[in-house]
Amino acid sequence: MGQRMYQWLDKRLHLGPVKMALLNEPIPGGASWIYVFGSITLFFFLLQMVTGMFLAIYYSPSTEHAYISIRYIMDEVAFGPFIRSLHHWGASAMMVVIGLHMLQVFLYGAYKRPRELLWIVGIVLFILTLAFGFSGYLLPWDQRAYWATQVGINIVGTIPLVGDVLVRIIRGGQNLGAMTLNRFYALHTLFLPWLVMALVAVHLFILRRVGPAGPWDEVRAARFQEPFWPKQVAMDAVAIGLVFFIVVAFAIASPAPLANPANPSDTTFMPLPEWYFLFYYQLLKYLEGPWEIVGTLILPLLFFAALFLLPWLDRRKERRPVSRPMVMSAGVGFLAVVVTLLTISIREVSSIPKLDPSVLRGKILYQELDCAGCHRIHGEGEATAPDLSYVGDIRDRDWLIRHFRDPQAVVPESEMPEYGLNEQELNDLTSYMLVLKR
Ligand code: HEC
Repeated sequence: MGQRMYQWLDKRLHLGPVKMALLNEPIPGGASWIYVFGSITLFFFLLQMVTGMFLAIYYSPSTEHAYISIRYIMDEVAFGPFIRSLHHWGASAMMVVIGLHMLQVFLYGAYKRPRELLWIVGIVLFILTLAFGFSGYLLPWDQRAYWATQVGINIVGTIPLVGDVLVRIIRGGQNLGAMTLNRFYALHTLFLPWLVMALVAVHLFILRRVGPAGPWDEVRAARFQEPFWPKQVAMDAVAIGLVFFIVVAFAIASPAPLANPANPSDTTFMPLPEWYFLFYYQLLKYLEGPWEIVGTLILPLLFFAALFLLPWLDRRKERRPVSRPMVMSAGVGFLAVVVTLLTISIREVSSIPKLDPSVLRGKILYQELDCAGCHRIHGEGEATAPDLSYVGDIRDRDWLIRHFRDPQAVVPESEMPEYGLNEQELNDLTSYMLVLKR
């Protein structure tokens, strides 16, 4: 059946040369599991395109509707949470496999002459992938999105001379707002996808022109060759299947998060970037005052300059890692720093007691309504009414809510005023009362 269909098509489209071009690329040294990462990266790019297109059916890039459109996807749309979570975890997977792909090329010295152009286009693709991550993070327009983007923009703002202009361009105005969301959306769904598609084509074109580098042992590389089809194709397919399976498992087990809607006036929210930016965020914590610019400008500049210039910094023909001690130690050193910073950062993040936002809002309400005009908490406030320092020990949620709703109904002749709070305020105030414990 398949055979006959192929013959039918072949008579009309003359597929022979296409088949040759797609599948016959010779791989020096033969197929290997170490070469699968490029294909997996491409697969995840396609997965992001497909899941992204489905998200775009419901998503609305306006500050008024962005959040509720995501809420709608999560609560109402069939398979909505699954598709969004695939997109969320797919982005993380993309970062991991693109990193592994680069590491493999680095380890094998595959960026060396005559493959410099392949490497450079690859680095540009890597930068564009980071831009994908950064722009996508803002789109849900929740607290995480808003404040993490604010931090990112502040970092850009510290760059001397051009910082202000860059911030204006990124933000599209005086504030992080409607203009920003719109341009991030355009960037994320139009500019970046087309740019990346074009550059992936260029990347693959160059690869097919110069051919893959193969093992670092040139003798072994020269002795034996194997076409892309069938063994490497099979290995790529198995690896893609495996990683896809892992991402699906993540998407099911841990749906993409959605915090409260973005609230520019709630500065109590602690912003956190995605995990792949965490190590950098941690680094910036150590570089304060006059050192700030080292972290926000000099180091990133040096890093990307080193990446772009790598084929010329390491120009000897020898590709064996043991014969490239300088480059190898630089690479290992960089990785060690990244892993250390990431570990510290994760430890710091997880040691912060998760302050319930409802408690925070309750605390703010307590101040706004001037409860301290009658009550005292740990010595603060007037003492004309019961001390509330340990009210969480003696009252439960139900009692407190009933009491706030109508004090006289619970304690006849209570002098406590009735505030006419709405459900959310009642809840928040009560959450705050309940943490006041011994
Ligand atoms: C005008 C003074 C006054 C103000 C203002 C006031 N209260 Fe009270 N509150 C009282 C008095 C008097 C009582 C004791 C009678 C009662 O339980 O209703 C009381 C009781 C309470 C109790 C119960 C304590 C217990 O365990 O018996 C809580 C909780 C409480 N207030 C919280 C608040 C909060 C929160 C605010 C601000 C929104 C507030 N109060 C504002 C006078 C005040």
